[in-house]
Amino acid sequence: LQPRSTPQWRPALHFTPQAHWMNDPNGPFLVDGVWHLFYQYNPRSMVWGHTSWGHATSRDLVHWQEQAIALPATSGRDIFSGSVVVDTANRSGLGLKGIAPLIALYTSVYTGNPRHPDGTQAQSLAFSRNRGQTWQNHPLDPVLTLSPDSRQFRDPSLTWYEPGRFWVMTTVVADAQIVKLYRSTDLIHWDFLSDFQPPGYRKPGMLWEMPTLMSLPLDGHPEDRRWVMIVSVNPWSIAGGSGVEYYTGRFDGTRFTSDRLPPDGSDPAAYHWLDHGADNYAAIRFANTGDAPPCLISWMSNWAYADTVPTAPWRGQMTLPVTLSLRTLNNSPHLYQAPAPDYALFVRKHPAQSWLRQDLATNGVWRPAMRHSVADITFTLRGAGSGRSGIILRESEDRRQGTRLSYDFGSKLLTLDRTHSGNTGFSDRFSLVHVAHLDPEKGAVTLHVVMDRSSIEVFANDGALRMTDLIFPDRESDRLSFFAEDAPATLENLRITGLDP
Ligand code: FRU
Repeated sequence: LQPRSTPQWRPALHFTPQAHWMNDPNGPFLVDGVWHLFYQYNPRSMVWGHTSWGHATSRDLVHWQEQAIALPATSGRDIFSGSVVVDTANRSGLGLKGIAPLIALYTSVYTGNPRHPDGTQAQSLAFSRNRGQTWQNHPLDPVLTLSPDSRQFRDPSLTWYEPGRFWVMTTVVADAQIVKLYRSTDLIHWDFLSDFQPPGYRKPGMLWEMPTLMSLPLDGHPEDRRWVMIVSVNPWSIAGGSGVEYYTGRFDGTRFTSDRLPPDGSDPAAYHWLDHGADNYAAIRFANTGDAPPCLISWMSNWAYADTVPTAPWRGQMTLPVTLSLRTLNNSPHLYQAPAPDYALFVRKHPAQSWLRQDLATNGVWRPAMRHSVADITFTLRGAGSGRSGIILRESEDRRQGTRLSYDFGSKLLTLDRTHSGNTGFSDRFSLVHVAHLDPEKGAVTLHVVMDRSSIEVFANDGALRMTDLIFPDRESDRLSFFAEDAPATLENLRITGLDP
């Protein structure tokens, strides 16, 4: 039975609607210092359906104001995921004097519509001349069709290609695991460019969703820009259920080519996982952020169990927005992720407690005298030999409840274990233990943990590895402890900032 309300799990740092179901982030962008976020929203119930675009705004990426529904589902049409750009140069011609229009490209799913077979998916355009408060549909509806009855053609995402001065749209044919690329100069008329599917990549039954293409300088060299294709996949992600893959490579204005593919295409490591935890899906980039590094936001849930998550009267929350950089790791380009600068600023406004060094003896436990349900925690863990050491988050007084983040310098594995994190019984597909390989740097690993009322986000080694998990602890589980098992370890530069509202 669903409780009426679970305020103990209402996030303090993450967006969630006041009530009802939410999945993917849609069309996020920045304009006039205001961050806008749209999202797949069911305004009527706690499960997926009646898909509309909800809308929220923020000035600091931490506090959000829910706005009126932007694009409501209608009787003949549901509104699936998509993106928004600010058409500053009015290339669409949809602006008015001095008013740059916002252009939303999204997927229409037609049902009971005389012009389209039931279930057809195609790309539609809506525009706004008042910064997203109200939207009008373009008379050309849809603007892009694959075939008159394609049912798996969705999730348009846009990127500006400066060398050719045109927009590129990525969409998927979800069940064929293909990204389709198109180009346009006016955002209304789209020409096919190419398909992206890594050679040999056939996983029948897996859906590809929410593709996003972007360019980034490699190792900070502006003259060496590389391209990254981010694709959400469901199921069979690294942590079970749904998750996000990314490919690094080149884009020549027509074709995206992944640079980690061997000639026979058999390398299963041609992609990386964006996140090694279970709750990161449908990652999408904020548009119109100028020269700033790309900022990404995801849905913090998993299709394997999203509709049973025990929160009420809302279900679904977003991850923290993160900024991306591309750096060489083990001889190949790799995405590094860190919480957005706005979040870092917010943290710095709060008093922190810090320790230069704490030694943990073999099988030792250290519990700092503090209680937090929401906190930002950073430290370096130094050790040697086999044995796990790390931190227990959201721990109960009797130590029976807690989420364990540990590292083993012997096996070089980072583990996030939510077996005893609280309510885990709402779905047998709520995977419990997530493990990833992480090389120490000079004998240590750095961990940045963002702990909220119902989630743990981990950024390891300066963001080289990310792990995101939902948890549903008891309200009173607000202790922290550090531990070392089978081998000693040392904490360095520990800093804990309580963020409880
Ligand atoms: C991804 C997704 C998208 C689709 C939307 C529907 O989570 O399945 O492919 O547009 O959600 O809500």
